[in-house]
Amino acid sequence: MATQDELKKQVGYKAVDDYVKSGMVVGLGTGSTAAFAVERVGQLLKEGKLTDIVAIPTSVRTKEQAEELGIPLTTLGTPESRFSKIDVAIDGADAVDPQLNLIKGGGGALFREKIVEECADKFIVIVDDSKMCDGLGPSFALPVEIAPFCWEHTMRAIAELPSLKGGKPQLRLGSSANNAVDGKDPAVTDNGLYIVDVFFDTPIADAPKAAAELKGLCGVFEHGLFCGMTTSVIIAGKDG
Ligand code: A5P
Repeated sequence: MATQDELKKQVGYKAVDDYVKSGMVVGLGTGSTAAFAVERVGQLLKEGKLTDIVAIPTSVRTKEQAEELGIPLTTLGTPESRFSKIDVAIDGADAVDPQLNLIKGGGGALFREKIVEECADKFIVIVDDSKMCDGLGPSFALPVEIAPFCWEHTMRAIAELPSLKGGKPQLRLGSSANNAVDGKDPAVTDNGLYIVDVFFDTPIADAPKAAAELKGLCGVFEHGLFCGMTTSVIIAGKDG
């Protein structure tokens, strides 16, 4: 049986092989699965099998990985720029529901991921099948990126949102990655903000509604519900 890393590599490489073509603008995701897609882009560029690629990374650590691999990088530009349009973005996810709505942000990169992936013609999600779920929430806490100023107030306001009923928010401490509550100080994102993880015993009943309510809260910068954005999901089962 394949190891989890082998499964992540399979989906990462397949997404690049199937969807990335020479001349494209590519959004590079963040996380242990997306890192394999970044690796594959670097490999194919080096071998000359891909040419004229420019990429937009979704976190500081993905930017560093891409730079090490010699992948040419850019940022989202002006409306006139060809770089405002991304041909394809490839990223992992923490949970995927039957409508292909996602929870993302376990690694703390949810804002940069969302702004890049919203601009992509195709958003390809790469996961192993442990990420598939019947409803978002119980399998992975929902990350919400908030302003440090008055964070306790914002956290209480999140807990009171009708669409997040039953959710228990907790400030993320320590590392910004993997929901780790392993330090005394708040985790700080690439944007200098805090993350609250909202834990659920039962699925969020209406994820798009929850997304809209969260966006309406003062103090909330972005959240990890990615609704209606996914083009395709590539899933690795236990045997690949
Ligand atoms: C980063 O903030 C996240 O959205 C990741 O894309 C997500 O957590 C998946 O990461 P793994 O591939 O490491 O599970």
